[in-house]
Amino acid sequence: MREFEAERERRAALGDPAWGKGAQLPAEIVRSIQKFQVGEDGDGSALSGKADLAGDPVYSEAVRLFIAEEQNHARMLKLLLEAGGAGTLDGHWSDAAFVRVRRLLGLRVELLVLMIAEVVALAYYQALRDGVTDPLASEVAGRILADEERHVPFHCLRLREGLAGLPRPARRAVTAGWRGLLGGAAALVAVDHGPALRALGVSRGAFVARTLRSSGWMARAMSGGPLPASAERGAGVGAGV
Ligand SMILES: [Fe+2]
Ligand SMILES: [Fe+2]
Repeated sequence: MREFEAERERRAALGDPAWGKGAQLPAEIVRSIQKFQVGEDGDGSALSGKADLAGDPVYSEAVRLFIAEEQNHARMLKLLLEAGGAGTLDGHWSDAAFVRVRRLLGLRVELLVLMIAEVVALAYYQALRDGVTDPLASEVAGRILADEERHVPFHCLRLREGLAGLPRPARRAVTAGWRGLLGGAAALVAVDHGPALRALGVSRGAFVARTLRSSGWMARAMSGGPLPASAERGAGVGAGV
């Protein structure tokens, strides 16, 4: 949790990107960012309610700070779209479906589903940061990416605790199933955002492959394996998250 608080202070000190300089965004990138903006813009009430039920106030507070970071992503993407002369969408079918499914779930499964979104987002913002020519868009993507890189180990650690009570084969089945769903979700996003990804220089297949490759250590960490050193720093493990 201290990691989240430190990040909040760092963010306040850093201030916002210079929105006034405007952004030159190709149409396919605008459409793609609009959809991700809707996805980031949840209120998180379902997740924080479930986190409260878990009865761990430190975790509840960390989840609130996590949700605030996601809302900041939505805010930055909105301002980026405005800087590029574009608006936001009211909603997107994939997001509505996602929210509906998540409402039905308990904390563990909710986190597994949320982790799918987080890991796909990692690959997406990385592609955007590295592939977009507009400097403002690249800066916003880089900032969001840095947050997502902390979110993933944060959820992994909680899931590791949540799955620890299961026998090893069941844990394996859960993480294998999770990776299967992740591959499916990455493929859907790759098709839906195909033109934008192409403009960013990433093929659909490469996007899916990248997402799946990055999930190996996460699956191992969830089922009791170690977190890589870089992820451990990101999650603020030493800081008691
Ligand atoms: Fe996010
Ligand atoms: Fe995130």
